[in-house]
Amino acid sequence: MMILRTTPEMRGQSRTWHRAGESVGFVPTMGFLHEGHLSLVRIAKERCDRVVLSIFVNPTQFGPNEDLAAYPRDFARDEALCRTAGVDAVFYPEVATMYAPDHSTWVVEEALTGVLCGASRPGHFRGVTTVVSKLFHIVEPDVAVFGRKDAQQALVIERMVRDLDFAVEIVVAPLVREADGLAMSSRNKYLSADERQRALSISRGLRQAVALYERGERVGAALCGAVAGEIAAAAGRIDYVELVARADLRPVAQVEGPVLLAVAARFGATRLIDNVFLG
Ligand code: PAF
Repeated sequence: MMILRTTPEMRGQSRTWHRAGESVGFVPTMGFLHEGHLSLVRIAKERCDRVVLSIFVNPTQFGPNEDLAAYPRDFARDEALCRTAGVDAVFYPEVATMYAPDHSTWVVEEALTGVLCGASRPGHFRGVTTVVSKLFHIVEPDVAVFGRKDAQQALVIERMVRDLDFAVEIVVAPLVREADGLAMSSRNKYLSADERQRALSISRGLRQAVALYERGERVGAALCGAVAGEIAAAAGRIDYVELVARADLRPVAQVEGPVLLAVAARFGATRLIDNVFLG
């Protein structure tokens, strides 16, 4: 497995593979890998001859009071996991490689980023779309795989790829949960034992909403209320619990077509997100 740290090395390797007729799959990450990331690698391996995984804690997608400095990092562990998973190359750039000191060009999606995480984390998606554009230009992948836990991020990337004619196919992979239901996230590491126990209220609430839906409930307030009630009872601080159309994230009052029931909540200082698809 190669570890590539510069743009010319990464782009050169991708072009060497392409010249040999090999396709390149790409899994962008911020590291501290877990089973959710490894499931993305498996999908990329099924689809492509070669797999690149990037590890880059992207400073531009963190707000000034967010967890950039504290974000968990363990390159040795990530490297071992990538080797076992059969990754061909890890792209592991420095911040200075990705951002010139006078970096001044941004990629901004304007229709889907004002709601949900875009409303509670101003500037977050501008950082994501910018870094993912840069990574696509450096890795030149044929296929890129994103997780559905970040459902809004996946939708925003799909829109960006369509609108800006990136020559990459986006694959959105299923959300992976721990055995007890908690959606896998690198940030789960921050949770104390008590917070982790209370954080299970998110997935429990979503399961209740699915059960209500399956019994015929279609009213957004009732579905969201079930989730919010569980989280509030576990003393979680809700950022949002919202029902939105899956195609464009427009808030909806009823489940009439495909919708996303999306949640963000804090337990202690840790902000967690989760979601289910209904309809
Ligand atoms: O989902 C993530 O880990 C990040 O937002 C991504 C896509 C790697 C961009 O920094």
